[in-house]
Amino acid sequence: MATRSNAQLDLRRAINAVSDVIQNRPQPLREFDQIYMKAGDMVLQTSLVAQRFADRRLIFIGDGDAISLCLAYLMHRQVLDEGPSSILVLDFDERIVNAVARFADRAEMSDRIKSRLYNCIDPLPEDILGQFNAFYTNPPWGASNDGESVKVFAERGMEACGADAVGVVVIADDKAVPWSQRVLAQAQRFALDNGFFVQEMQTNLHEYHLDDAPDLKSCNLFFRSHPDRQLPMKSYALHEKRLEDFYGREQNLRVKYVRDANRVDYGKAVDGTYQLELLGDSQ
Ligand SMILES: C[S@@+](CC[C@H](N)C(=O)[O-])C[C@H]1O[C@@H](n2cnc3c(N)ncnc32)[C@H](O)[C@@H]1O
Repeated sequence: MATRSNAQLDLRRAINAVSDVIQNRPQPLREFDQIYMKAGDMVLQTSLVAQRFADRRLIFIGDGDAISLCLAYLMHRQVLDEGPSSILVLDFDERIVNAVARFADRAEMSDRIKSRLYNCIDPLPEDILGQFNAFYTNPPWGASNDGESVKVFAERGMEACGADAVGVVVIADDKAVPWSQRVLAQAQRFALDNGFFVQEMQTNLHEYHLDDAPDLKSCNLFFRSHPDRQLPMKSYALHEKRLEDFYGREQNLRVKYVRDANRVDYGKAVDGTYQLELLGDSQ
């Protein structure tokens, strides 16, 4: 059978599938830098990552955007004919962890994608360490801590990967915004110091639902592991200093988990946010 490359994506089916995933996303919490990627960029990002990470065991360190679900779902619906062989999503937000599990269960694709509650303050669990060969992270962008939060998320992704690994860090990229260029330089230096090197940078690519900086875009910074990288990896808890200004100025990392207090059906109006005025009521 002739295979169709992801480059010839059926755009209508892809957008409709991504739209299903978007309906399932919990409302973003701005205080933890949950700022969701826009729909068009999600479609293109999913297609791109599917090709780059085809047949790889892929781990997500945080994924409010839900690119992980898009990958799994578009493969499951055969909109994509290649992509990662397995996906694990780690996130400290239980609403996101549950949203992934619920969607995967409904679509009958729980064999392709799993999710787990995890705060990157903690050492990576032993059963995850070195078990993957690709990582994806769209971390807090590190505007106020010189990129330290980007390094933390990237570090956890690297620790999850064994030999012959690749990864992508999705971070702010705007040459008119000096902090974004500083953080990019820091991230690249960090990768070199930790057994990875930059394979490619796709600059100025994605847009977000970010009301105070609607023009701020992000890039894909792709890494590949150095052949002489030291393995096996070890993982340690974060020390206090690395938690400062994690989500912005004076917004230290101090929350262990965001708990799913009230199970709502995402994509549907929440009770209490509207009232019904019946025919005849207004007379
Ligand atoms: C920080 S946001 C970055 C913006 C990205 N566009 C998004 O909204 O997903 C990425 C993800 O990291 C998760 N996250 C934030 N702090 C975390 C932590 N300490 N440990 C694990 N995940 C965390 C968020 O819940 C979110 O899903």
